[in-house]
Amino acid sequence: MIRVLKHPLAEHIITHLRDRTTKPATFRSLAYQLTLMLAIDATTDLETEPKPIETPLEPFTGQVLKHQPIVVVAILRAGVSMVQPFLDVFPDVSVGYVGLERDHVTAVARSYYCKLPPLAGRRVLVVDPMLATGGSAVQAIDVVKQNGGVSPRLVCIIAAPEGVAEVERHHPDASVHVGVLDRALNSKKYILPGLGDFGDRLYGT
Ligand code: PRP
Ligand code: URA
Repeated sequence: MIRVLKHPLAEHIITHLRDRTTKPATFRSLAYQLTLMLAIDATTDLETEPKPIETPLEPFTGQVLKHQPIVVVAILRAGVSMVQPFLDVFPDVSVGYVGLERDHVTAVARSYYCKLPPLAGRRVLVVDPMLATGGSAVQAIDVVKQNGGVSPRLVCIIAAPEGVAEVERHHPDASVHVGVLDRALNSKKYILPGLGDFGDRLYGT
């Protein structure tokens, strides 16, 4: 299942992320804002429970989030930019990291780091801004499942159809939440129109 963010503000932010003249400081702030929107859009099924309170005018029973731990697993390095928005909006989040780096020639991802909190029984969201061939995401979801995660969600800013198809082929149970679905990959496996190398744009490398 793929779900694409539908909001004029998302389009606005993504256009500025794509713009090659956007500087890293602005790029980081835009990535934060867009991820905040994705964090909300990817969790619309969180459970709530009633909580009786008193407003300044009368008693009222509202809804609050049930205790349901969320784990965000960021794919290094660009996925780090998507962690803070989750920490800022949800009360009970723990964070794991999976280090994966695409080879510049083959575009095949190599694993170099893994540090995960307990995943069993928790809602797991794997975050990585770019879903290109899908190789990194498939590997990260493999690791999540090997460590007890069930039906993780994948949250990305930009996805290529090729990457979505690859994730669906290997992990049909994993839903994919994206800011935008782009056209295709180029011969070097970069997303078109895309925004270039997200990590480089983020950190000015
Ligand atoms: C980028 C991006 C994804 C990956 C997507 O990372 O952040 O992790 O490419 O490509 P794929 O779908 O073809 O696997 P990269 O490997 O460039 O590493 P970086 O984050 O350290 O720059
Ligand atoms: N990783 C990126 O950062 N950008 C792409 O277009 C593809 C993979």
